[in-house]
Amino acid sequence: MKRNTGMRIGVLTAGGDCPGLNAAIRGVGKSAILEYGMRVYGFSSGFLGLIESDYSELDEDDLSGILTLGGTILGTSREKPYKNDGLTEYIQSKPEQIKRTYRDLRLDALVCIGGNGTMKTAQKLADEGLDVIGLPKTIDNDVWGTDQTFGFDSAVGIAAEAIDRVHTTANSHRRIMVVEVMGHHAGWLALYSGIAGGGDMILIPEIKYDEEIVVEYLRRRISTGKPYTIIVVAEGIKVPKQKKSAGRHIAKLVGKGTELEAKVTILGYIQRGGSPSPMDRILATRLGAYAAELISKRKFGYMAALRNDKIKAIPLKEVAGKIKFVPTDHKLITRARSIDTNFGDRL
Ligand code: F6P
Repeated sequence: MKRNTGMRIGVLTAGGDCPGLNAAIRGVGKSAILEYGMRVYGFSSGFLGLIESDYSELDEDDLSGILTLGGTILGTSREKPYKNDGLTEYIQSKPEQIKRTYRDLRLDALVCIGGNGTMKTAQKLADEGLDVIGLPKTIDNDVWGTDQTFGFDSAVGIAAEAIDRVHTTANSHRRIMVVEVMGHHAGWLALYSGIAGGGDMILIPEIKYDEEIVVEYLRRRISTGKPYTIIVVAEGIKVPKQKKSAGRHIAKLVGKGTELEAKVTILGYIQRGGSPSPMDRILATRLGAYAAELISKRKFGYMAALRNDKIKAIPLKEVAGKIKFVPTDHKLITRARSIDTNFGDRL
């Protein structure tokens, strides 16, 4: 143990779960306990655990054997303490209850592991005087201020493997296969898994697709004798109001516009499940241990971020609530276009 700070820290995981959360909890917890002599309290179900004072102390045993575990041992929720849900008196009390729990437990710091919504809540708690550190996570990779979030690499691997499998059935049946991936409002997951999986067409929210161009691209592929086409669609692309799923809309569009059958596979929650990839385990461990170091130095109000392969502290107020979208001139898009990957915007 470098320093016995005697500090007491809280940890919570909030928002959609993803592979790597337990690796991050382990990184923060083990470093805090073993390196800095801190006591670590895990809150259940995200901010709900703080509101309801639902927590348990984590010791080395609790943190062992969880590096490779999917999900989060703390549980998570999408509780937004500052979101006005109409019950005014109740909504005003949620932050008060959080501050009371923080005070009663004599916490010196709170580590909030989550996406852009969680960073926003963490910043609001910082504004109210709590000492917080944010750790960015999500399969969407849409947290502003960090090059990559843990969860993303695992999800790309899951989606790419699924797309590989879709290739074989598309080829057997001479079909158009549409694969819908998650990503919320951003297209990172579709872009990366689409390229990794050899998608012929990739539709992302950041690039406005033209339905006639999409159909014409398919027709040209068919006329040049291509036996099948794989279209990877981000769930967040624009579809007509009454449509439920992006993938289903595109499958219907191309099925009607060409003589080939079009089938859709919506990958859904398998992209968030299972053991984290080695890269996500490494990133989550780096971020977690760095959070403990920031706390030991009493450096609060920051998000631990990956910047050019270095772990940096970015002020939470710069990040809070911002979404990182795919730049339309991203190098990966340029390279993909050069190998005839189509983004639905031009032939
Ligand atoms: O933010 C992660 C994510 O999986 C998004 O990609 C997806 O749109 C959303 O969560 C689904 O939310 P929920 O888990 O609440 O259904």
